[in-house]
Amino acid sequence: MKKVLLFISFLCLSNVFAQDGATLYKTCATCHGAKAEKAALNKSQIIAGWSAENIAAALNGYKNGTYGGPLKGTMTGQVKNLDDAKIATLSQYIAGLK
Ligand code: HEC
Repeated sequence: MKKVLLFISFLCLSNVFAQDGATLYKTCATCHGAKAEKAALNKSQIIAGWSAENIAAALNGYKNGTYGGPLKGTMTGQVKNLDDAKIATLSQYIAGLK
């Protein structure tokens, strides 16, 4: 019984860890590049080298409609389900990409 419980709590824990920056960034990488080095859809600014603050500000702006260029609709769909914690985790992760 103890083993089963341990196994279950392990599963829950790994679920939490699955929400780390690398995992969250996977969907972003298809457009922005694995190292954030690409202009997404040839239109976005290259976000590699941006500070975590700037990235979080842009993501929050897309979420509440106060930021963005002609293709901001693309990003609104990307960020609408991200809560503050996920935006923070993602921003730190992208800012740390080399
Ligand atoms: C379908 C392609 C696509 C995906 C997936 C995508 N983006 Fe974007 N992203 C864009 C485009 C296009 C823009 C420029 C939009 C505009 O006109 O403001 C952009 C802009 C941005 C910007 C601001 C850069 C600028 O040009 O002002 C940030 C930061 C960003 N994306 C982060 C992310 C993150 C984080 C994810 C994953 C949660 C993500 N993007 C997923 C296409 C994408």
